Amino acid sequence: MSERTLVLVKPDGVERGLVGEVIARIERKGLRLAALELRTVSREVAEQHYAEHDGKPFFTSLLDFITSGPVVAAVVEGPRAIAAFRQLAGGTDPVEKATPGSLRGDFAVEVESNLVHGSDSPESAAREIKLWFPSL
Ligand code: CMP
Repeated sequence: MSERTLVLVKPDGVERGLVGEVIARIERKGLRLAALELRTVSREVAEQHYAEHDGKPFFTSLLDFITSGPVVAAVVEGPRAIAAFRQLAGGTDPVEKATPGSLRGDFAVEVESNLVHGSDSPESAAREIKLWFPSL
């Protein structure tokens, strides 16, 4: 059964020219792109996207970072797409959790500028896809 997930290449990934690397790994894994767009995120969309982190100590910094430059937003689909992309991404902390071979393990060091975002559950995926690509 196919499912969909929302993937972001964060401002650090776009700035460093790693968009192609992220997309190549998604495609090689056997997942497909259902939507793909370069976007500058408004504060409003950023707040909605990260609503579950509202109130945490890093919330303001996270909003500043995600709105600091263009991101690439994608809807990725395929069997087990949510878990499959999270495997490609690696753990949130690029050094303590992400293993070498994963995107964060290979290309990131900081928890905040950790290259990519992927939805963490079917509920998050549905909410995030509706927020970023309402026409899908
Ligand atoms: P992401 O998958 O986009 O979802 C929430 C983001 O918050 C996460 O990736 C990290 O970039 C960021 N984040 C999580 N924990 C921390 C933290 N302790 N300090 C700063 N940023 C964090």
